[in-house]
Amino acid sequence: MESIGNMLAGKRAMIFGIANERSIAWSIGKQLHEAGAEIGLAYLEPLKDRVMPLAEKLEASVAVPCDVSKDEEIENAFKVAGEKWGSLDILVHAVAFANREDLEGRFVDTPREGFRLALDISAYSFVAMARGAAPLMKEGGSMLAMSYYGAVKTIPNYNVMGVAKATLESCVRYLAVDLGADNIRVNAISAGPIKTPASSGIKGFKTMLGACADRAPMKKNITQEDVAKSALYLCSDLACGVTGEIHYVDNGFNVTGM
Ligand SMILES: NC(=O)c1ccc[n+]([C@@H]2O[C@H](COP(=O)([O-])OP(=O)(O)OC[C@H]3O[C@@H](n4cnc5c(N)ncnc54)[C@H](O)[C@@H]3O)[C@@H](O)[C@H]2O)c1
Repeated sequence: MESIGNMLAGKRAMIFGIANERSIAWSIGKQLHEAGAEIGLAYLEPLKDRVMPLAEKLEASVAVPCDVSKDEEIENAFKVAGEKWGSLDILVHAVAFANREDLEGRFVDTPREGFRLALDISAYSFVAMARGAAPLMKEGGSMLAMSYYGAVKTIPNYNVMGVAKATLESCVRYLAVDLGADNIRVNAISAGPIKTPASSGIKGFKTMLGACADRAPMKKNITQEDVAKSALYLCSDLACGVTGEIHYVDNGFNVTGM
């Protein structure tokens, strides 16, 4: 078997969603880079000063600002990647957003605009990215999104983000069907809770961490590195028969009833 050091040699990966060193996307970027992939980053412009040093550490050959709520910025990200590389093998979507006030209290009170915003940035953007990435995946490829258990069960305060993740998981299946004949696989990792910039916006997040560590069969919380290792598998040829899948990386939490 190939060693991890060259598992992705010659592959090119566009990664959306690095905010800082705590971001899941940063750990995935490191893992894919260590496995030999050439990295491209798309980041939110106001975070540029924090992201560029990380891009350097990953020896990123593409680094492009991209607000995923704007079609033209997503199109531009893939135009830049296409001009630089000519082709693409891996797409990682690790982006989510909801208004802070919609991540607490009662879900029934979610306003129309907060609902629209959460689903647009956290779910629709994956569809738009897939549309931009697929024509570059001439030899096939792998697309990966990040979900959470709140997609399938209610979790206090997760609220509209749960609905967005349910949508994202459904998008994974529809995209897998559309793109499978082109040898493009589409999957999601459903990660257990991890302290990151995004999760700090969820009210009671510490309680979530404690409850998961208590109940998970492995009696601990997962780390960004745990997610990145599974991402490497799903993005590599090792997962050549896997598409449309929601792969849990949660120390087994999702299989428990109590
Ligand atoms: N942290 C957890 O507990 C956890 C668990 C399961 C799934 N996830 C998912 O993992 C993914 C990554 O989140 P994270 O926890 O690493 O937090 P994070 O804050 O590091 O990543 C979220 C990213 O989304 C980006 N983003 C937000 N709005 C954007 C926009 N309009 N345009 C472009 N980028 C935008 C942010 O810049 C940030 O880089 C998200 O989809 C999140 O829902 C996180």
